[in-house]
Amino acid sequence: MTLTSLFQYAVNVLGICALGYLLFLGLLAIPFFQDQAIYLHSVTLTWFQDVTIAEQWGFLRNQVTPFTLNTPDGVTLHAWHILPLELYRRHEEELVKQPEGIANEMTDRTSFKLLRDDPEALLVLYLHGAAGTLGSGWRPPSYRAMSAGAPDKIHTVAIDYRGFGSSSGSPSEQGLLTDAITLAEWAMREAGIPPSRIVIFGQSLGTAVGIALTEHYATQSNPILFAGMVLVAPFADVELLTSTYRIAGTVPILGPLSPFPRLLAFFNTFILSKWPSKDKLASFVRECEAIPGDDHKYHITIIHAQDDYDIPWSHSDQLFWHAVNASRPGGVTFDELEEEKEQTKTGLGPAGWVAEYRTTKGVVREEIAKWGLHDRIMSYPVVSLAVLRAFEAKAVPGK
Ligand SMILES: *[C@@H]1O[C@H](CO)[C@@H](O)[C@H](O)[C@H]1NC(C)=O
Repeated sequence: MTLTSLFQYAVNVLGICALGYLLFLGLLAIPFFQDQAIYLHSVTLTWFQDVTIAEQWGFLRNQVTPFTLNTPDGVTLHAWHILPLELYRRHEEELVKQPEGIANEMTDRTSFKLLRDDPEALLVLYLHGAAGTLGSGWRPPSYRAMSAGAPDKIHTVAIDYRGFGSSSGSPSEQGLLTDAITLAEWAMREAGIPPSRIVIFGQSLGTAVGIALTEHYATQSNPILFAGMVLVAPFADVELLTSTYRIAGTVPILGPLSPFPRLLAFFNTFILSKWPSKDKLASFVRECEAIPGDDHKYHITIIHAQDDYDIPWSHSDQLFWHAVNASRPGGVTFDELEEEKEQTKTGLGPAGWVAEYRTTKGVVREEIAKWGLHDRIMSYPVVSLAVLRAFEAKAVPGK
């Protein structure tokens, strides 16, 4: 091959790539394909597996009780109630004799009774990320991490959003919020767990759902505050996300356009899902700071791995900033806060670092781990401890 034909070849390859990318951008302008790219709900990753049989993902017999929730707009969601290990051990004999499959009533299962009838039971409402189902990837180990800090107390309930797994419907921003509200209402009404014994956990896309959920309840005329919120690998909003996100850590969405801010902004106007997490988190903190009295406190933990190739950890800096800024009457600029963090953060050597900001009304923590990738980290002890800390913040006498 001569130098000119090699050059010609390279130009052709680049041309084909550019055309392919333009076609991809064109498809993205169509809501159906856009939703597929954002929610990835058709990528189930648990193909041909029945999500009502949790034993496939390493759970003990009837440690997981599958059940369904009905949303006010007629969608059926599939859910898992996961028993913590020590509680399971204490009731093992009874549990193994229970029927399997989807539970219809709370009264017919020991697992539900253990949640509802224990005045000290703690509950994590688990909001998973894009793609897959309840049983995908690092989610099952992550459920086990939720309760690791108090294996006799912490129950977990996870859902597949509409359009995911066996749940009906198809995803949308409002739809996923409705799903999360349906889960929270079930927890507070059916299971009878007060919000002070509930922690909201979200990972990736689930962080946006979790923030929207807590903001929804905090901004009601009678504000409801949960014990805390743990956000793993979050993003600041979809606009910032599209310029940095890589599907499965490799396929960029609008990344190639990021040198062209106007073009990027133009394409972002086509994206229907906005998920404005940074603004909603700020609104949540402002709301909490304004509630008079001492008995409402917020507790936010933001966790991100430095080697997260799907969503860079700079998103967590942004969220932390928006939360802290909202808690200060005069506000603080991003650079000012970064400087403050340099002075006050705690270095944890090879484990990373943590920055914490407190007011009389609440706590915001940012924990950056050196390792953990995008998904794996949600099964790590750093998450177990964050969940426990959120519950304990609420357990102070009189709070
Ligand atoms: C930071 O807080 C100040 C004061 O509340 C507010 O005016 C400003 O808009 C906030 N900045 C951002 C980026 O939200």
